[in-house]
Amino acid sequence: MPEPAIHKAAAPVIVIGAGHAGVAVAAGLRTRGYGGRILLVDAQTELPYERPPLSKELLKPGAPEQPVPLRKQKYYEDRGLERIAGLTVTGIDRADRSVLLSDGTRREYHRLVIATGARARPLTVPGADLGNVLALRTYDAAARLKRALVPGARVAIIGAGYIGMEVAAAAATAGCDTTVLEFQDRVMSRVTSAPVSHFFERLHEAHGVRFVFGAAVTAVEGSGRAERVVTSDGTAYPADVVVAGIGVLPNQDLAEAAGLDCRDGILVDEHCRTSDPLIYAAGDATRFTGGFDGASQRLECIQSALAQAELVAGDIAGGPARAAEVPWFWTVQHGVRLQTAGVRHPGDEVVLRGDPADGKFSVAYLRHGRLAAVDTVAGLADFRPAKKLIADKALINPAAAADPAVPLTDAVLAPAALAAAIR
Ligand code: NAI
Repeated sequence: MPEPAIHKAAAPVIVIGAGHAGVAVAAGLRTRGYGGRILLVDAQTELPYERPPLSKELLKPGAPEQPVPLRKQKYYEDRGLERIAGLTVTGIDRADRSVLLSDGTRREYHRLVIATGARARPLTVPGADLGNVLALRTYDAAARLKRALVPGARVAIIGAGYIGMEVAAAAATAGCDTTVLEFQDRVMSRVTSAPVSHFFERLHEAHGVRFVFGAAVTAVEGSGRAERVVTSDGTAYPADVVVAGIGVLPNQDLAEAAGLDCRDGILVDEHCRTSDPLIYAAGDATRFTGGFDGASQRLECIQSALAQAELVAGDIAGGPARAAEVPWFWTVQHGVRLQTAGVRHPGDEVVLRGDPADGKFSVAYLRHGRLAAVDTVAGLADFRPAKKLIADKALINPAAAADPAVPLTDAVLAPAALAAAIR
């Protein structure tokens, strides 16, 4: 019957989730001249906001007492982007091309975009539900944490990932007695190599942060509120506030329940289409199989969320397709910036460029001789060339790359040198 098809075509694009990815899809559709209705369903009531400042600027004394909005209210109004705030999508009916909202209403979609992001991995030990045990995912949690960061307060941080390290820097700067309990044997082990980890450990220690590695937290104890964190060897670490930054889980439940293919993330192709051609997904909730290197990756990364949003908007609204970008990441701790291009694998060859003792260096990661990722610490000279070389899958001479005086671009094995190296 043609009639329902016409009716469905008049239905809006519905975007579930108004984080970086969801808002960028809506904005990107309009930029590309999409004239249909666009509906953003957002569980939060406040205007969608930036997340990076939650563990950085917003924890500093004198920081604004409100989140930093991604876009002003007027932006949504001017572009006719309709927000349904304070409601969640509770189900997707693919046969009916509609979603069910938490207020019991049903909305039909022309195209659906799942941009549900990720949630903090819950700490599951006894006492984890005590009121002053925080996960840092929302502005409210950041505001509560900031109030607790007073001089002399004992701050116990579980996990030495991005969150743990940025919170540790903020806590130490605020004069707190700061302890980080990490399961692994070094900080940020998910994302970087030992030389970078050790550099940041020393940097934090110089600011009074204590690290406990190989720490298996077994309980948070206290009467009514957390007073100490206990590890498997029986040690109790006193705490006035506990922050758990132990990773994230992709919010794929809706997609799974709707029968979409998921595997530690909603599976999407190079256009960010899910296994249903009318349903897209973008951002931290996805596992992207269309990256520049063809690998299947679940990335926790704003830049890749924005790039995926562009792909979605382009596929729905038309317009020039953008090539997949090399993902990149950054963190700032005690004023030192770590910026990463590409995604390092634990088996990569690690080539140190410069001496960490100088406070400024970078690390190149080679996979089968090709540049796969670069970490830059306190200097960005290698960053831009690295992004290009990673995208080009450049073969690198490790000996040349180990000399920081040699620009990375000059460490590329030229075809003649390559032929000689192979002979
Ligand atoms: P993460 O994955 O970066 O780090 C989690 C850390 O917790 C790991 O070092 C892991 O070994 C440790 N861990 C896991 N379970 C543990 C346990 N039971 N006891 C002790 N340690 C344990 O995740 P994190 O720091 O929670 O960050 C959450 C999300 O926020 C990530 O997606 C991250 O990319 C994002 N984020 C990114 C920032 C940036 O790019 N600068 C800043 C803040 C957050």
